[in-house]
Amino acid sequence: MSDPKATESFDSSDYRRALGGFGTGVALVAVRAPNGAAHGMIINSLTSVSLNPPIMLWCLARTSSVFDIYTQVEAFSLNILRSDDHDVARHYSRRGGDRVIPLDQVCTMETGAPVLAAAVASLDCRTRLRQSMGDHEVIYGDVVAYRGDPGVDALGFFRGKFVTLKSGE
Ligand SMILES: Cc1cc2nc3c(=O)[nH]c(=O)nc-3n(C[C@H](O)[C@H](O)[C@H](O)COP(=O)(O)O)c2cc1C
Repeated sequence: MSDPKATESFDSSDYRRALGGFGTGVALVAVRAPNGAAHGMIINSLTSVSLNPPIMLWCLARTSSVFDIYTQVEAFSLNILRSDDHDVARHYSRRGGDRVIPLDQVCTMETGAPVLAAAVASLDCRTRLRQSMGDHEVIYGDVVAYRGDPGVDALGFFRGKFVTLKSGE
């Protein structure tokens, strides 16, 4: 167990290791790029902020090579990945990689943002607010449509590794 530290003396790897003890699901956030292509990136920062009205948020690193694309769109989808989506998770988290989603893997719901055709759950969101916070941009969205498949195992992320989250159903 590391000792408590003053913020300015945090060792960033050690801090990240401590945060890695918070296991999460893994999601693909998908947007329509200015050239019309479906574009995806892997995140685990999504949170349900409010159920009624349904509002989600996720956080985008200011250093991301795709920052300009994701902070200009008026809609996005959050797609919770299945346990067998390891390759999807690796591909869409590759630094500077090509993150165009093939046409046959996406559909649309209400907003026109690309939605992954096969996900544990998909939330179609209209951007509500963007807030600059530290080294990230917090992006809020109103959920205008969703679908879910509760019987499917989900992909998890714990201590820097992908794991399977078993569905109890
Ligand atoms: C499990 C996992 C969760 C991630 N969560 C986030 C996140 O919430 N926000 C974010 O900006 N990047 C997140 N990333 C990093 C991005 O997917 C991507 O690797 C990063 O943006 C680096 O590439 P880029 O500089 O080309 O954007 C996550 C990566 C992994 C593997």
